[in-house]
Amino acid sequence: SLPVILDGDPGVDDAAAWLLAFASPELRVLGLTTTHGNVGLDRTTHNAGVVLALGGEAARGVPLYAGADRPLLRAPEEAHAVHGQSGLPARDLPAPLRTPETEHAALFLIRVARAAPGEVTVIATGPLTNLALALRLAPDLAGLLREVVWMGGSTGQGNRTPAAEANALTDPHAAAVVFGSGVPLRMVGLNVTMQCIAGPGRVAALRAPGNRAGAVTAELLEFYADFYRRRYGLDGGAMHDPLAVAAALRPDLLTWQAMPVTVDTAEGPNQGRTVCDLYGVTGAPANARVAVGVDAPAFFGLFTERLARLP
Ligand code: BDR
Ligand code: CA
Repeated sequence: SLPVILDGDPGVDDAAAWLLAFASPELRVLGLTTTHGNVGLDRTTHNAGVVLALGGEAARGVPLYAGADRPLLRAPEEAHAVHGQSGLPARDLPAPLRTPETEHAALFLIRVARAAPGEVTVIATGPLTNLALALRLAPDLAGLLREVVWMGGSTGQGNRTPAAEANALTDPHAAAVVFGSGVPLRMVGLNVTMQCIAGPGRVAALRAPGNRAGAVTAELLEFYADFYRRRYGLDGGAMHDPLAVAAALRPDLLTWQAMPVTVDTAEGPNQGRTVCDLYGVTGAPANARVAVGVDAPAFFGLFTERLARLP
């Protein structure tokens, strides 16, 4: 099984993503690392403990590490309209299974990567602050990770601004550090995640088995769907972060194109834009494999089947 670290800001879709990881025997979760993002760090860390409590057998021994409480340079920005006040808008959630270890998330990432060179994949589903800090503390980290799979960016339209996706905009400088580091990188951006919409039928399928993880995920996705209906006129919420876990688990569900990607850090309307050179016009070497297509029904088939395995 593939050893992974899950780094994110739960958050509705981060929680769904992490449950998919715990339900998938192809992945072995070495630890959860949390960041500021959808809600503040204290909440994302608390919520990570809640996801561990929902994650069944595979989540039981998984340690939790809190990371950055703010972006490198920008002011923190939270997304309560999308994820609610708490970040996990559901009733009857279990208490967190555990509190965080004392080690900082960035130091944990470095320690684990050095202990197993070339083996560890980081699935990042929030702003990239923790990875950027780790890469600055340990430049050798770029050559030690098997891969970083990041939900963020877009080959086209943004969502937080017309140019920028939320994880990219929240800490554009961190994203620029990661994209400039040479670490093997896959980008799962809005151009594919906005094709994976959890409409009412798909939410009902999650609830059907009657397990707690399915019921909680359905409730979270229903809350989140309201925002997607109002803002985008879609039938439900986009499964951004679960698609990044699926990309690590089943890369064949997406189509990939290697290309040069830079992150715009300049203040102004394009800050946080992931500039994707699809046509190779810059002549720069590729630094990322970018998802350019997705089999959305196959992704939902996998997600639903896996979540049904949890308690
Ligand atoms: C990303 O932003 C967050 O709100 C979601 O959790 C996801 O990681 C989508 O733009
Ligand atoms: Ca997220």
